Amino acid sequence: MTSENFYAGKKILITGGLGFIGSTLAIRLLELGAQVTLLDGLIADLGANYFNIKSIKDRVEVVEAGLGDRPLVDPLVKGRELVFNIGMHSCHLKSMTDPLFDLQTNVLPQIQFLESLRFHNPQARVIYIGTRAQFGQALTIPITENTPPNPKDIYAASKQAVEWYHLLYQKICGLEVTSLRLGNTYGPRHQMRHAQYGVQNFLIRQALEDQEIKIFGDGSQKREMIYIDDIVSCLLLLGEKTQCVDQVYCVGSAESITFLELVEAIIRACGSGRYVHVPWPEDRKSIEVGDVVTDFSKLTAHTGWKPTTLLAEGLLKTADFYRKNRQYYW
Ligand SMILES: NC(=O)c1ccc[n+]([C@@H]2O[C@H](COP(=O)([O-])OP(=O)(O)OC[C@H]3O[C@@H](n4cnc5c(N)ncnc54)[C@H](O)[C@@H]3O)[C@@H](O)[C@H]2O)c1
Repeated sequence: MTSENFYAGKKILITGGLGFIGSTLAIRLLELGAQVTLLDGLIADLGANYFNIKSIKDRVEVVEAGLGDRPLVDPLVKGRELVFNIGMHSCHLKSMTDPLFDLQTNVLPQIQFLESLRFHNPQARVIYIGTRAQFGQALTIPITENTPPNPKDIYAASKQAVEWYHLLYQKICGLEVTSLRLGNTYGPRHQMRHAQYGVQNFLIRQALEDQEIKIFGDGSQKREMIYIDDIVSCLLLLGEKTQCVDQVYCVGSAESITFLELVEAIIRACGSGRYVHVPWPEDRKSIEVGDVVTDFSKLTAHTGWKPTTLLAEGLLKTADFYRKNRQYYW
């Protein structure tokens, strides 16, 4: 658990703060008494949504800008004790059809952001959100921090490169970096307009609409689903623990399930929806990573973190949230 007063009064910057993870983290940080600024470029088709921060809108500063907007971002990073760097896209397929979009959204702005930090807050504590996709088709099962990166798409390769940039800036200027290689995260506040990323969330929309969910192949690939509140508690611990500086962590879920079991659990939680097996489309098949099984014992040993939300419970909460708020997400 996070120490009682660690975050009280802390000046914190969250990039991607209007999106799914950033906004949920911001809400929790305000509960803990932090002073929070959200930086977000409201990039088209991503998860930026002012409804996400409705409950805190009068207590949080929002700056609408790209991470690479140096004139705006340079003054913004000054004096921040902690930066949660979450502002990137997660569109695997789009990164393959439009690599320049990936470069312009996830790579160049990140280098510019690191330069802002180098010149205006060189020893800031930075938590970078990487992705399990950096392991691609994992070269060891279970995946650990020692599993070599093996990206299967441009997005994953960029996320790996940007993680390395972060760790390098630690050597260049003293930035205190931690990277969390996040897996499939679900819950309230995710965008639900399309399935270009965060497919696990989009399946919940399909079930709520009583649609037929397409399972590519037999659905036997293993998956891990992490509820957003568990990720937020993990990020808070990483921001607090000094021994996490200069470290990379894998994170996993309480239960290991197959994709088919995930779809069945979603249909149960929503009380509607059906599924059908269809052949893999070529574009999806080419970036499919096979089984995902993670050993996150290093994270637990360093922070005490363990996931506490079981899938059935997390899905019920998520379905309930979207039933009540669908007009803001559909
Ligand atoms: N949600 C998941 O399951 C998951 C899994 C692994 C990794 N991640 C990582 O988490 C991060 C965010 O995920 P999310 O689910 O909150 O996505 P999201 O789309 O809900 O939020 C991302 C936010 O970042 C902003 N943004 C993106 N690029 C930006 C830029 N260059 N400048 C300024 N703002 C920018 C977007 O406008 C958006 O509001 C990504 O880095 C992603 O790789 C997410």
